[in-house]
Amino acid sequence: MRIWFNHKDTNMKTRVNTFIIIAVGIVLTACHRQPMSVNSPDGRLTLHFALTDAGMPTYEVYQDDHAVLECSALGLRAVTEQGDTIGNLDWQCEGTETNSKDETWQTVWGEERTIRDYHNQLTVHLRHDMLRMDIVFRVFNDGFALRYAFPEQSCNELTIIDEYTSYAFAEEPQIWSIPWRTEYYEALFTKSPLHLKDTMNSPITLEMADGSYAFLHEAAVTDFPCQNLYARQDASLGTYLTPWMREDKVIDDKAYIQTPFATPWRFMILTRTLPEMVASRIMLNLNEPCQIEDTSWIRPMKFIGIWWNMHMREWTWRQGPQHGATTEHMKQYIDFAADHHIQGVLAEGWNLGWEGYEGINNDRFSFVTPYPDYDIDYLSAYAQERGVQIVCHHETSGRANEYEADLDTAYQYMQSYGMHAVKTGYVAPIITTMDGHQINRGQSGVRHYRKVIETAARYHVMIDNHEPAMPSGLQRTWPNLMTQEGIRGQEWNAWSSDGGSPCSHVCTLPYTRMMAGPADYTPGVFAFENPVIPGTRVHSTLCNQLALFVVLYSPLQMACDRIENYAAHPEEFRFVEEVPCDWEQSHLLDGQIGEYVVMARQDRHSTDWYVGAITNEEARDITIDMSFLGEGEWVAEVYRDGDECDWETNPYATIIETIHLSAPCAPMTVHLATGGGCAIRFVKL
Ligand code: NOJ
Ligand code: CA
Repeated sequence: MRIWFNHKDTNMKTRVNTFIIIAVGIVLTACHRQPMSVNSPDGRLTLHFALTDAGMPTYEVYQDDHAVLECSALGLRAVTEQGDTIGNLDWQCEGTETNSKDETWQTVWGEERTIRDYHNQLTVHLRHDMLRMDIVFRVFNDGFALRYAFPEQSCNELTIIDEYTSYAFAEEPQIWSIPWRTEYYEALFTKSPLHLKDTMNSPITLEMADGSYAFLHEAAVTDFPCQNLYARQDASLGTYLTPWMREDKVIDDKAYIQTPFATPWRFMILTRTLPEMVASRIMLNLNEPCQIEDTSWIRPMKFIGIWWNMHMREWTWRQGPQHGATTEHMKQYIDFAADHHIQGVLAEGWNLGWEGYEGINNDRFSFVTPYPDYDIDYLSAYAQERGVQIVCHHETSGRANEYEADLDTAYQYMQSYGMHAVKTGYVAPIITTMDGHQINRGQSGVRHYRKVIETAARYHVMIDNHEPAMPSGLQRTWPNLMTQEGIRGQEWNAWSSDGGSPCSHVCTLPYTRMMAGPADYTPGVFAFENPVIPGTRVHSTLCNQLALFVVLYSPLQMACDRIENYAAHPEEFRFVEEVPCDWEQSHLLDGQIGEYVVMARQDRHSTDWYVGAITNEEARDITIDMSFLGEGEWVAEVYRDGDECDWETNPYATIIETIHLSAPCAPMTVHLATGGGCAIRFVKL
């Protein structure tokens, strides 16, 4: 059994930002076959646990006395060290415990400064012969969560081969999802009734039969495979854990664990409205508190970079006449960043090893050897002089094992040049070299990504991870994990043979993928013509691109276009210069999945507010409720689609205007063109 990494591996101290703990009480109860229940603090959600006559653990969930989930199976299928297989029958209940928590904690960065963790918990102690397992339930006002925990016991090592957690919906929902094993999760979310779905990646978003919403995902995936969900004909969902591979073949084993051990949390947000769903912080609350004692070096920032030109096939990552990451180009990017209040510059293709990229790459990347035409000594000194940070890049082509061997030297090298942020990448066929070929989101991959995050933290490095395992809120514990890909990002609009993502895509993301955490979508294309792939382009107006800086949250936010294109639109670029990427509070004001989004966020470091509004293929008038501004007088700098603007033929038409507002601010109506948007900065007078 290979176990080279476990929960106790950390040399960082725990820091808990706990301000109020109102009630933490523990009640011990004997267990029987009658259901045991736990309610949300407001009493509107109820979860019942019961063992069936056959000893199968099950649960049901009610919202305002209506069944949301009917009797649904729980449990894991595990093989013990002795070779006994234990499934989800013949369990006995040995007792239960309940407790409650009401705690408010502070984020290091995020969509809001403070988060309240308010829930009731029920722990059920189960036994199957010699094996003991707890099922822990938490019920919040806006949803519930559950996990399996194995206390320390003589049965020490287990191989998990299946998970039985299911969700038997009382009424069939509609589901937004992408298919299981979508390469790097880069796909368009589509909606259909549950029974027409197949196996899906977690997360999924559900439109419930009664018009309410649900979001199903997992939290705190630190040493376990990512979950997937599959549809059954009876309107229920089952769990399928990502498997291990041996000799390039998928095997039955899903996870190797050692007790004590707790699985990731499975959670479901249940809310009446989309603004409530988007505001839910269940996922972050289920992750462990911050493990990094001194977080002063973790600073959200915007960056530009030597990047879009490679995706548009004008420059290359490898050395040659069109090499992108040259000293000259980088100096220009550093100057542009310094002149326009952009804190960072990324250089992809700065290092040795790109010769085979995009083919079968047999060269090993070096993370300490710049190409000869990239003068890192000069550039580091120059960037420092101009007050700009260089964002490093580590493409691994999926060779995680080699990267692990190089980690310390790679991060020492970054540290020696004063680099505090790195974009990592794992482009390879769907399997990557992690303990032999493995699926990125299997247990092996999850362990690898975690090792990178923890190593980076020791060297004070912030991570932007591409081709990740699906995010699950680990940034609460390791806030140097700033952002990740795992999304069909802007790059698809450069080279996708399907023409680029439809306008509806970015109107779907805030309700689906973004619910799992920040994403490096890379907004900010300012030139829409694509000479490389005829017919492919960004399906967006210029104002839509501006609004994405508010709509799609990322604490490392890349403005992705070439600096020449920004220089051509200085007025519009002012919004990119000013918009922050660290927020005091955030509110979805209005929206529909796949149709439109109106998001308001307040800057964490000033009194400014920002609004980003986007629409799909349909032009529409939106009315923005201004009550979030509260008291006072405001100047609104509005960037909106001009007359006759549309994404296909006239995406650049922009009207920039300044409006004075004073409380109580009347609602503002704005016209969004097809594929259009509106971005507003509110400055308090
Ligand atoms: C894929 C990443 O998503 C992209 O941003 C990057 O440019 C390439 N890999 C090269 O590393
Ligand atoms: Ca990618």
